[in-house]
This record gives sequence, structure tokens and C-alpha cells, in this order.
Amino acid sequence: MSGRRSGLWLAGLLTLSLLGATVARGQAGPAAPAAQKPLLSEQAFKDVRELRGIPVKEFMETMGFFSASLALNCSDCHSEASGASWARYADETPLKQKSRAMIRMMNAINKTNFGGAPFVTCFTCHRGSQRPKAIPSLALQYSVPPDEDPDEIAPHPAVRVTMTADQILDRYIQAIGGAAAAARLTSYTAKGTYEGFDSDFEQVPVEIYARAPDMRATVIKMRGGDVITTHDGREAWAAGPQDLTPVTLISLVGESLDGARLDAQLSFPGQIKQILTDWRTGFPPLTIDDRAVDVIDGRTARGSRVKLYFDKATGFLVRSVRYSRTAVGTVPITVVYSNYSDVPGLGMKLPFTFQVTWTNGRGTYTLTSLQPNVAIDAARFGRPTPP
Ligand code: HEC
Ligand code: HEC
Repeated sequence: MSGRRSGLWLAGLLTLSLLGATVARGQAGPAAPAAQKPLLSEQAFKDVRELRGIPVKEFMETMGFFSASLALNCSDCHSEASGASWARYADETPLKQKSRAMIRMMNAINKTNFGGAPFVTCFTCHRGSQRPKAIPSLALQYSVPPDEDPDEIAPHPAVRVTMTADQILDRYIQAIGGAAAAARLTSYTAKGTYEGFDSDFEQVPVEIYARAPDMRATVIKMRGGDVITTHDGREAWAAGPQDLTPVTLISLVGESLDGARLDAQLSFPGQIKQILTDWRTGFPPLTIDDRAVDVIDGRTARGSRVKLYFDKATGFLVRSVRYSRTAVGTVPITVVYSNYSDVPGLGMKLPFTFQVTWTNGRGTYTLTSLQPNVAIDAARFGRPTPP
């Protein structure tokens, strides 16, 4: 996990993922027709030698991949001065140089052995340590294996399926109040608090705006200025103040855009059956925090996979996992939903708390008030102005 300076950014730029949903893996594929041309890493930064030709967002997620794989903070690889200035991230350091050599080695291994598919990544060898181990551990071999990571669960042919995806989704819609009540929610504004790495764990105000079927804006009132993420139904943006992000406004493409759309769509969970296709069941039995859950996954329009976890007892959606491809491998983004509360006057519920975890940060949103079916200016969901 990472330190603060690490979270900062990703929070800025991943916030939209934060907001709620989930996407998964999938091809980086061609950009959607409406998508803007994203700013590329070598245009945004001073000294990019290996990770060129990728959008800024993907570049930063690659940094997150490094941090997660080696369990290092941003400033461990970068100079001490990087904590105070984005420009100083361009400083040369021994670990940066070593990392560049590692990228070349990893690409060569994958090319030679796996047809270029990213089977071997930084994490494959490092697994959270700076120096990978070479000697097998007898302590590990003879110890009780740790519980399965709920994010890593996958369908298995031997699993007896007791409920179809349709039934699990119907139970969820029932749990939040039924299809008719859910359909009455067409827009909302909400206020609450946010706290995470990027706010230095200080509780700061957050505002959420949503309009069915797929518009959403989130404004985190950080001390240094607003961190804003928007999805207008076609395009998505992330903006933030200079002290929190090296690039104050970016348009999102690929899986990031997919994620933004999904977050917006899941703001209106009555439509959950329509927002993904190719639903799969057959995941092994799983408990999270001692509660049994049903897991299903589906595909977004772009082909990204999203895993959804439903509490067996309450029927509520309690977790989602989506994936984003980076230059060196795929990173997961998990959202944990809780605190299902009444939407005033509609007889339906939404999760008022959601915690988003990604490769180097974690942020928790807690809504304290929500106003349904209010008029919201369309400009709210468009390209934001950086603070
Ligand atoms: C394991 C080492 C490592 C870690 C950890 C790491 N980086 Fe990097 N970073 C690099 C390398 C290597 C480059 C240069 C990439 C290249 O040349 O293609 C780089 C480049 C950058 C740049 C571009 C600098 C410029 O102007 O040229 C930024 C910004 C950056 N990193 C931010 C971060 C942030 C933020 C984090 C924490 C989330 C982070 N890095 C974590 C190794 C690391
Ligand atoms: C095939 C296995 C393997 C892969 C893949 C791999 N590494 Fe390494 N890495 C190593 C080994 C082994 C060492 C330790 C070498 C040593 O002890 O001198 C190392 C050392 C390092 C170091 C230096 C640590 C130090 O304290 O000196 C950095 C930084 C690093 N790796 C970054 C990365 C990054 C970033 C990636 C992904 C792009 C990556 N590695 C992928 C095996 C790997």
C-alpha cells in the first residue's frame, strides 16, 4: 500500500471509479467514437523513456501497479523532493533506473515465452517485496493457507449453480425496494463526507449529482480545491487541483471511461440487469466478513468484465471488482457498498457508504443527505473546469 502522496493522484483521477461501480479487464481496444484524444504520457511528463504512447491515466495506474507490486510509496522510487513538487518526479534515481530495466526484462520474458501476453508482471516476481525471494520457504509450505482473496474468485465448472444471475439480480432489485420504486428515481443530488489518502484522512465534504440513465458528477471539496469527476452519458473527465494531480484535467478513455459509465449507471440500480451483458454464475462459495455472498459477473459494452457480490441474506450488492489494464499488467479496483438507506419519499434504498480501494489509495464516501428527482443542469456532467 502506499503513502499519501501516492493516493493523492490516483484519487483525483480515479475518483470516478470510486463512485460506485465496477468494470473489468477487457481489451483497451479502439476508443469509443465520441471519446476525445487523451493526453499521452510523453506529452504530459518530462522524462518518459519506456512507458510512452499511453494515456496519462494509464501511466499513473502503471505507477500504482509498481507501488502495489513492490509495496513502495511513490517517494521511495522517486526523489525525496517529489513529495513537494510534481516536476521533481522526473529526477533520476537508482530505483527508477532499475525499474526501467525491469520493464524491458519483463516485456522480453512475455514476448519470448507467452506471445507477448502479460503473464509475467512485476507482481509475479515481487509479490509485495522489493527483492523477490529465490529460496522456497518451509514455513510457508507447512502453514495453513490464507483465506482466498475475494477479488480473485473465478467461475469453476464443478460449482453447482443454485441461483441464476437473473434470480440474484431480481433478489437485489427486490431488496432495494422493487423495480417500480427504483424506476421512480430519475435524478438526485447528495451531500456527505469523503476521507482517504488524498485528503490526508481528513473528512472533507463531497457532493454527488446523478441523472438517469448514465450521468454522474462527483465533487470532493479538498482543501486545495475541488476534485471533480464527471460522465455526461458519452464522455468522462477528471479534474483536480495542482497539488493533487500532475495534470489538472484529463478526459478518460478505454476502461477508465467504461468505469465512469458504469458508476453513473449504477447510480440507478433499478437498471442493473440492462447495464451488463453475458452474465456468468458458477463462482465457488464465498464469505466476506463472515457473511455468505453470491458472485456473478457481466460484461460492459466494451467487453470489460465486472464482478458483483451480493449478500445472500439481505440480497444487497456489497462489493464490486473491476479491472483496468496498464502498461505492465492489470490492476483491480474494488468498491465495497454498505449502509443501505432510504431515498426519501420513494420507498427504495441506495448504499449511502462506499469505500473504493485501488492500487495506491483508498477513499470512503458517506452520504448524509440525498434529494431525489431534482432538476440538474446538464453542464454539471460535462467537461469540468480545473480549480
Ligand atoms: C518501482 C518504482 C516506482 C514507483 C513505486 C513509482 N514510480 Fe513513478 N516512475 C518510475 C519510473 C521508472 C518512471 C519513468 C518511466 C519511464 O521512463 O517510462 C516514473 C515516472 C513517473 C512520473 C513522470 C515524471 C516525469 O515528469 O518524467 C510521474 C509523475 C510519476 N512517476 C509518479 C509516480 C507516482 C505518483 C507514484 C506513486 C503512485 C509513483 N510514480 C511510483 C518508477 C516508480
Ligand atoms: C522475473 C522476475 C521479475 C520481474 C517480472 C520483475 N522483477 Fe524486479 N527484481 C527481480 C529480482 C530478482 C530483483 C532483485 C535483484 C537483486 O537482488 O539485485 C529485482 C529488483 C528490482 C528492483 C530493485 C530493488 C532494490 O532494492 O534494489 C526494482 C526497483 C524492481 N525490481 C522493479 C521492478 C518492476 C517495476 C517490475 C515490473 C515492471 C519488476 N521489477 C519486475 C525480479 C523481477
